[in-house]
Amino acid sequence: MSVFMDDRSNCAYRRTLNAVAMAVMGWMLVACGEAKPPVPPPPPPPDYADKHMPDGYWNNPDILAEGKAIFIGAENIDVNCASCHGKDGKPVKAGARDFRGGEHMKLFSDSQWFWRVSEGVKGTKMKAWKSKLSEDERWKVIAYEATFGLKGMEYNVTHGQWAPMGTPDDDPMFDAPKAAEKAPADAPK
Ligand code: HEC
Repeated sequence: MSVFMDDRSNCAYRRTLNAVAMAVMGWMLVACGEAKPPVPPPPPPPDYADKHMPDGYWNNPDILAEGKAIFIGAENIDVNCASCHGKDGKPVKAGARDFRGGEHMKLFSDSQWFWRVSEGVKGTKMKAWKSKLSEDERWKVIAYEATFGLKGMEYNVTHGQWAPMGTPDDDPMFDAPKAAEKAPADAPK
């Protein structure tokens, strides 16, 4: 009888341990951001909707060098993106966005990046940088950050899509559905 009781309580104890272990593992996955499927960020607020990368900044070696100096804290010790996002874009602090994931980073428009860098992400360690970085500096650091996962690409504002540097607006790579969505606005009334 007592053996039977022991078995049962032992079993319940193990079940509890298992449940705790699973909860911890689940939390770790979420904390590391690995369990989350890529979800597009919310649209930028109106103040940021029309902000776009200045012409000639994406993939410009001089701009990228300045962006890198900002990113690694060489220009201003108070601004050190690499201390969380890693020098090569591989996060060093849990939860920091991994800039090497091009497929995920493509979900952001240039305006969304600019908004996030300017205002931060509430409830996370990502703070607002607009008091520390001028608009121009923010664009430079964003151009640099893009090289981790989207090297050689630029954000095409007309099509709302990332494309290889220098792709003309009428290139067939800009997919048909987007063009179709636009058609009614241009169609004769
Ligand atoms: C103290 C740590 C920390 C520092 C320093 C930091 N970030 Fe972040 N950053 C984060 C975290 C955490 C997230 C993820 C926020 C989230 O969950 O969306 C993030 C997200 C981002 C994103 C994506 C925004 C989004 O919606 O997820 C961008 C872009 C970004 N950071 C750029 C920068 C730049 C540029 C700098 C330097 C000017 C910087 N970060 C400095 C922690 C940091």
